[in-house]
Amino acid sequence: MGEIEAEQGMWQVRPTTGLGGEARVPPDKSISHRAAMMGAIAEGTTVIDRYLEAADTLATLESLRAFGVEIDGPDGQGRVVVRGRPASRGGLAEPERPVDAGNSGTTLRLLMGLAAAHPIFWVATGDASLRRRPMGRVIEPLSRMGARIWARQGDRAPLAMRGGPLRAIAWRGPVASAQVKSAVLLAGVQARGVTRVDEPALSRDHTERMLPLFGVRLFAGPGWVELEGPQTLQGCHLTVPGDPSSAAFLWVAAAMHPGSRVRVSGVSLNPTRVEVLRVLSEMGAQVQVEPASPPSAPEPWGDVTVVGPERLRPFRIAGRRVPLLIDELPVLAVAALRAQGTSLIQEASELRVKESDRIEALARGLAALGAQVEALPDGLRIEGPQRFPGGVADSCGDHRLAMSLAVAALAGDGPSVVKGSRCARISFPGFAEVLDLLARAGGGRIEEAA
Ligand code: S3P
Repeated sequence: MGEIEAEQGMWQVRPTTGLGGEARVPPDKSISHRAAMMGAIAEGTTVIDRYLEAADTLATLESLRAFGVEIDGPDGQGRVVVRGRPASRGGLAEPERPVDAGNSGTTLRLLMGLAAAHPIFWVATGDASLRRRPMGRVIEPLSRMGARIWARQGDRAPLAMRGGPLRAIAWRGPVASAQVKSAVLLAGVQARGVTRVDEPALSRDHTERMLPLFGVRLFAGPGWVELEGPQTLQGCHLTVPGDPSSAAFLWVAAAMHPGSRVRVSGVSLNPTRVEVLRVLSEMGAQVQVEPASPPSAPEPWGDVTVVGPERLRPFRIAGRRVPLLIDELPVLAVAALRAQGTSLIQEASELRVKESDRIEALARGLAALGAQVEALPDGLRIEGPQRFPGGVADSCGDHRLAMSLAVAALAGDGPSVVKGSRCARISFPGFAEVLDLLARAGGGRIEEAA
């Protein structure tokens, strides 16, 4: 293995005839980001249990520290303690150096909203993937609220921002994006007047669920949120549930292999995050949900078992379902390789501006394994069922693609290699070990190449 390949990691995958067992997945990425950010402007102390210790959410903690926020942890057990800097304590401090959001769009976009009300100048950047992603969708509403933002090529990082007193706005953006909604709400809660966000379709609703836990009064319905600022957040105690977007790789792997049974415990059952379970059940998988939330849960959670059926039905996903499945679409496209008929993903051009162009990169990655999927301008067409030999595929540095390709490789006829696997630690450290344990039930393996 070359030096660069060794650094970027590589999985060797042997196909399986089935998966079995019980697993836990890492804590939810979206909830972890938000808990730390809200804690950063709250009065008093916020204690977060089971904070996700992965590259994206560690980038959020490092970024917040650059704004003078005191943070203890994570301590290896997932406990993080955030001492907030609300306006009454002088607010966020001006960072002395550029803030690096790494690979994390959520870190950068939510931070922009969080810091917009603070009279400080700061510069933000990220890795090559983040520097390619569009930031105009947050620059526009935040500029209308009164923040000044200068960006490379108008809407790319690196960017510079000077915040200050904000005006509330009513925002109806063209894309259904939880990141945009959250950026506007985090700015709006610190702005004078009524801020309202209307989404073209409902996106994940963690921000509007979590702000009230910090004492914020708001009104929300399907696709809209309204709050009157300024309001001071009060620190609180939260425990983060398992991430359903991480669990999705295990659930899909189970659904693809008849007779498999995989149980994931302690995962968020937030209805804006578990649409993937509805799709799997429409495809014919058996899905059992056992709700069980601990007292400091910010959202409903529980244990979910997926059983693989003899035959999988194809799906068509478009319109309002897309934002509810946005992170699960690549692995659902993989599931469609085993379905009896044509599956379609449409109206999902947002996939092109994620950590990679997930439409092209997935089509290329699956082709490298010998499977054919057709890239559409706004989605994918997958003919099933397909048998494919396996091969050597590349993650393109995208964590969800690396994991989707590993799930695909388990269903190949022969062994495969997934290059660039280390990026899985962006959201799911330990992914290969977890999937390996489950896949051994049917003779499959997924191992780090030495
Ligand atoms: C996220 C929202 C989604 C999702 C991302 C996390 C969030 O992005 O893809 O992984 O935590 O708000 P968009 O809201 O931009 O679609």
